[in-house]
Amino acid sequence: MCFPFLTQRKKLLQTFQNDAHVVSAVVGTQWGDEGKGKVVDLLSHSFDIVARYQGGPNAGHTVKYDGKTFVLHHIPTGILRPGISCVLGNGMVINIESLIHEIDQLSKQSIDVFSRLLISENAHIIMPYHIKIDCASESSAHADKEAIGTTGRGIGPAYADKARRTGVRIGDLLHPSLLEKKVKSNVEYANKILRAVYDADGCDYAEVMAKLEKTAKYIDKNIVNARQYVCNAIGNGKKVLLEGAQGTHLDIDFGTYPFVTSSNTTIGGACTGLGVGPKDIGTVIGIMKAYTTRVGNGPFPTELEGPKGEKMRKIGDEFGATTGRPRRCGWWDGVAGKISVQLNNIDYFAITKLDVLDTFESIRICTGYKLGNRVIDYIPSNPEEACAMEPVYEEVEGWNTDITGVKEYEELPEQARNYLEIIEKITGVPVMLVSVGPRRKETIWKNEL
Ligand code: IMP
Repeated sequence: MCFPFLTQRKKLLQTFQNDAHVVSAVVGTQWGDEGKGKVVDLLSHSFDIVARYQGGPNAGHTVKYDGKTFVLHHIPTGILRPGISCVLGNGMVINIESLIHEIDQLSKQSIDVFSRLLISENAHIIMPYHIKIDCASESSAHADKEAIGTTGRGIGPAYADKARRTGVRIGDLLHPSLLEKKVKSNVEYANKILRAVYDADGCDYAEVMAKLEKTAKYIDKNIVNARQYVCNAIGNGKKVLLEGAQGTHLDIDFGTYPFVTSSNTTIGGACTGLGVGPKDIGTVIGIMKAYTTRVGNGPFPTELEGPKGEKMRKIGDEFGATTGRPRRCGWWDGVAGKISVQLNNIDYFAITKLDVLDTFESIRICTGYKLGNRVIDYIPSNPEEACAMEPVYEEVEGWNTDITGVKEYEELPEQARNYLEIIEKITGVPVMLVSVGPRRKETIWKNEL
């Protein structure tokens, strides 16, 4: 016997599930460098569009396949899959010269970029004076104690101009007189700061303008109303993957402020950084390294400063893709993980670099923080308190086996599966895939999307 209401419910559920996957998002759940590039590359074959929503060339993805290495800073890794369009959203800050360099490198490796790259007219431009101010501010004597350890790419000052409502936007490149006016007053303002506050050299307006005019010619045909492009694509049933940069705990609002980047790295940033509505986002995939790393300064409760940290850095090749700086390394942090799940509504985890833990006799998992004589499960907003916290650990047995060749989840050593299941239990989020090496084939699928 058939119950019509049940059939209807099943249909509704199916419609919902289909719709839910039209737009998916990938977010970093730690302090960046979780391996988002590889995961976006793996997932992107199921999507028509990959769109980035925040950050700029402070991000760096290294993707290896076919014996080639691709290093990307602005462009989503989706560009490596033929037929996929890539969007740089309004929430981004773009260094045009370095973007062109990236396009050239990809073109030399036979990747067609120009016909598939769309740049939001509302994205902001990183200007030479932003880079100067960023570097001067980091190295100035008064900032010495409080240096953020930025990537020196001008990210903070570019977003500061956006918030001051004086920033130069990509769309301004198409309007020469507006561009000239804006650049002139911005250079004057920036030079005053550089000279008076940092005792540094300013920028030459004519030089800045000449460079902008020259580089604008390369990308002017790729400038679009990206919000409309993405929304129309969603309306027409195209599948869109939203790519976050950096990580949850570098978020300007919810990260370990002031040791953060200057954009919203969490899922809310995808809505404001592209113009998609929250209900459009069906699935959120959190990228989680099997341990924790951080570059730059700021609180890092599970940091390992001794030989174990060195060992993780060496095996994991933990050096920044953008600056080459050694990354600080430490155990996996369940408190930071749970906060990420709450902030991003994470549906699945992609666990990366599990193989880096292959030779650790025992592995620690942080389940709480001790602050004075209290155990807490949040990161205090006061950076001094956040730095003073001691992690509370649970210790598990390591697997002491090379897992890089493992293809099936069941073939992983019991201790490795146990470790992953503890992560699932602490966070309440199922693992979708486990990465055990940099190559596409070094991936174990546990749950398909
Ligand atoms: P900014 O984004 O260059 O202003 O740097 C601010 C902080 O974010 C510094 O601690 C940087 O090291 C960190 N950061 C920025 N981009 C990345 C990234 O892609 N991965 C990891 N850390 C990052």
